[in-house]
Amino acid sequence: MKILVTGGLGFIGSHTVVELQNEGFEVIAIDNLSNSSIDVLDGIERITGKKPLFENIDLRDKLAVQNFFSKYLDISGVIHFAASKAVGESVENPLLYYENNINSLVYLLQELQKKPEAHFIFSSSCTVYGQAEKMPITENAPIQSAMSPYGNTKQIGEEIITDVAKVTNINSILLRYFNPIGAHPSAEIGELPLGVPQNLVPFITQTAFGLREKLSVFGNDYPTPDGTAIRDYIHVVDLAKAHVIALQRLLNKQNLEKVETFNLGTGTGSSVLEVITAFEKVANQKLNYQIVGRREGDVIEAYANTDKANTVLGWKAQSTLEEALASAWKWEMKIRNK
Ligand code: WQD
Repeated sequence: MKILVTGGLGFIGSHTVVELQNEGFEVIAIDNLSNSSIDVLDGIERITGKKPLFENIDLRDKLAVQNFFSKYLDISGVIHFAASKAVGESVENPLLYYENNINSLVYLLQELQKKPEAHFIFSSSCTVYGQAEKMPITENAPIQSAMSPYGNTKQIGEEIITDVAKVTNINSILLRYFNPIGAHPSAEIGELPLGVPQNLVPFITQTAFGLREKLSVFGNDYPTPDGTAIRDYIHVVDLAKAHVIALQRLLNKQNLEKVETFNLGTGTGSSVLEVITAFEKVANQKLNYQIVGRREGDVIEAYANTDKANTVLGWKAQSTLEEALASAWKWEMKIRNK
């Protein structure tokens, strides 16, 4: 069975390619290398012993997408990661985000609807919930109007998939990630740092390595126990494994509806200061940080109710926050000591 992984050389995509290969799937990775490196192919091969097929394709190119599906007729499933994902950048450059994240999805679905049946896993985000009223957040929590064009593209993507499912033979699972962190334990693949990291954990590891002078903690006046914002940090390998399980659910026709939705988190919330403390423990060094003002658009807290993924998918995150942070730190040291 050939599985197409778009964004397959990206952070979550590459870890999912590894888990797919571990389960015996043949993988074709598509990536336009705008936020990834071709070297990731070698990293995947060093872990699994198999280099996935690779096509350097930009999914905004409709003809290229059509040609791809004419060339590979035996694709039995698609896991769609390819998208722009920086919240701040999406505010500055909304059309880049609407063109990339929406057009790519439309062109992919236009090819899949031509098949007798198709199985589609969509990379969504807890960002669709905005600041949810109730913690932990269930899949039934109301979708709030997006706080960024990036978040809006995820909401629109879910709506497009839902509308298309009603009139085609495309079965889909929407996976709403909380905060993916860490790297493969082998340190052969991980999060590739392009520019100044927007996310907390890569900024922490770069600060610890001495690449950044100090971490700015965005606000300690939130209504939380220690005043800093709370998130659900999930190890990227746990996240990758959930994608394989979700795909197998569709391939084995175990899905109960044409579109199913699952939150992927650990179910535990951690504050920024708790992440810092956990990191200092695993790295056995103090982190240089200072408290500054809140970041525009941040929610106070977001952590997942994972009952549905645990019971229906039969999946549960295995790694602790410390294990995930240790893997991120091992990766940072590996890529800097090249
Ligand atoms: C986490 C916490 C910050 C950096 C985003 C996207 C989400 C998903 C994951 C794609 C917050 C604080 C951060 C720093 C800090 N991406 N922080 N100093 O914003 O929860 O989620 O990434 O799907 O869609 O919205 O993640 O890592 O940016 O922030 O204090 O230098 O760390 O305020 O409380 P976020 P993050």
